[in-house]
Amino acid sequence: MSSEGVQSRMAPVSSAEFRLACGRFATGVAIASVLDRAGVPRGLTVSSFTSVSLEPPLVLICLGHAVTNLEDFRDARHFGLSILRQEDRDISTRFAQKGHDRFEGVSWLRGETGVPLLASALAFIECAAHQRFSAGDHDILVGEVVRTCVADGAPLVYYAGRYARLAPE
Ligand SMILES: Cc1cc2nc3c(=O)[nH]c(=O)nc-3n(C[C@H](O)[C@H](O)[C@H](O)COP(=O)(O)O)c2cc1C
Repeated sequence: MSSEGVQSRMAPVSSAEFRLACGRFATGVAIASVLDRAGVPRGLTVSSFTSVSLEPPLVLICLGHAVTNLEDFRDARHFGLSILRQEDRDISTRFAQKGHDRFEGVSWLRGETGVPLLASALAFIECAAHQRFSAGDHDILVGEVVRTCVADGAPLVYYAGRYARLAPE
């Protein structure tokens, strides 16, 4: 059977089917952060983080075109990633909700590049903006990693639309 024949009989994948299948890929959870033009810390919860390249060290995140602070990320020379611990589910929820200052009451520090980083994170990754692509309804932001810092602990896991924990072996 030709690939053309297969294509012609495939029904379009619905949004629900797409989400269901992608949700079967377990991820960690991170807070992507940036300073806006006024120097105010901004950030949101992301699970779209992935490493891209070792030489040079590159990572990416995908931000929806409707994300409130998308322009801040597009303008920024640096952005930060704070990888969350399993205890930090509340932080993940906080940074995914609108209508409040997400950094208020949260312990954070400035990285060497100036980006805001969450003090409780399992790891920090500071990135210099490297490339940006628009793909469908998201921007793909590729960052060159300029600094990392890791701590001990267990990660917050996101799977099938829910938070989860790594099970001990
Ligand atoms: C676990 C989790 C992972 C998320 N991952 C992403 C992501 O990778 N990219 C994205 O644009 N939004 C992601 N979101 C949604 C954003 O955190 C946020 O809710 C959304 O951008 C709306 O907020 P805002 O427009 O005020 O920034 C995620 C939310 C949750 C709870």
